[in-house]
Amino acid sequence: MQDLDEFTVTDAALAQMANTSDPRLKEIMDAAVRHLHAFAREVNLTPAEWLTGIQFMTAVGQACTPVRQEFILLADVLGLSAVVNALHDRKARELGSQSSLLGPFYREAAPELPNGALIAANPTAPVITLYGRVTDNAGQPLPHALVEVWQTSEHGLYDLQQGNGEAMDLRASFRCDAAGNYHFRTVRPLGYSIPMDGPVGNMVKLQHRHGFRPSHIHFLISADGHRELVTALYFGDDENIGSDTVFGVSGSLVVGAKVDSGSPIPGLPAVHYDFRLAKADPNDTGRVGADPTKLMHAAE
Ligand code: BEZ
Ligand code: FE
Repeated sequence: MQDLDEFTVTDAALAQMANTSDPRLKEIMDAAVRHLHAFAREVNLTPAEWLTGIQFMTAVGQACTPVRQEFILLADVLGLSAVVNALHDRKARELGSQSSLLGPFYREAAPELPNGALIAANPTAPVITLYGRVTDNAGQPLPHALVEVWQTSEHGLYDLQQGNGEAMDLRASFRCDAAGNYHFRTVRPLGYSIPMDGPVGNMVKLQHRHGFRPSHIHFLISADGHRELVTALYFGDDENIGSDTVFGVSGSLVVGAKVDSGSPIPGLPAVHYDFRLAKADPNDTGRVGADPTKLMHAAE
């Protein structure tokens, strides 16, 4: 019987897990144990700090409700969700537009509106147009692709954060035309703070981070035979464009609204963005982000 120290316990734990029959579970758990042990050794973790970590994770779990997923928020502010998104993009059979976070404010069954519709019920800011084409990786249009959009208002709130959260506003789905074109009108959203009233917000405050996301519009785009694209377009002149708290911004997703003679709605400032979808792959691995209601009892 070997005496265990802070190094040999790692091998002992790996040896006990060696018969895991699912090879992917084994790969993930082996790496998790190796990295967790190395982390504890690197920072020389004390029992009191270990307990603080346990209490923090307990509070994160307790903050979860059918409409709030504090663990996803934790993954977001640590940059883990962005890492998983980047890996997901790299695993595609071919290159598509870059992914960005789904976030907690996506709703299924947003109203389907005709192209050109205004998605804001009570706009108090200038209206802009978003338009473009959904294509495959080779630039060939994807006729009738479905484009779902959601965003905050000009005051920085999603519909889910207003009143009892039941009214749908500032979200819609659009069917592209036969040439893959979409267009709609909206107000420019305001950047907003992630939920800061829970344990993740407390951590962000301890780190002296501002907690804001820059102004953005979310997109979920799907077309038969193609990989679903979850992404967002970010307004480049937002003061937090370079310091998104959840690391969702990539250069290729940064846009601005400008006068544009090619816009289908003349006279309004427009954002022109063409999205590319990769071909679907049987090994596609799902989306980063989830409806919190679907996670609440998933592990039971
Ligand atoms: C969002 O963009 O809706 C979002 C993403 C991550 C955390 C909070 C909000
Ligand atoms: Fe958002």
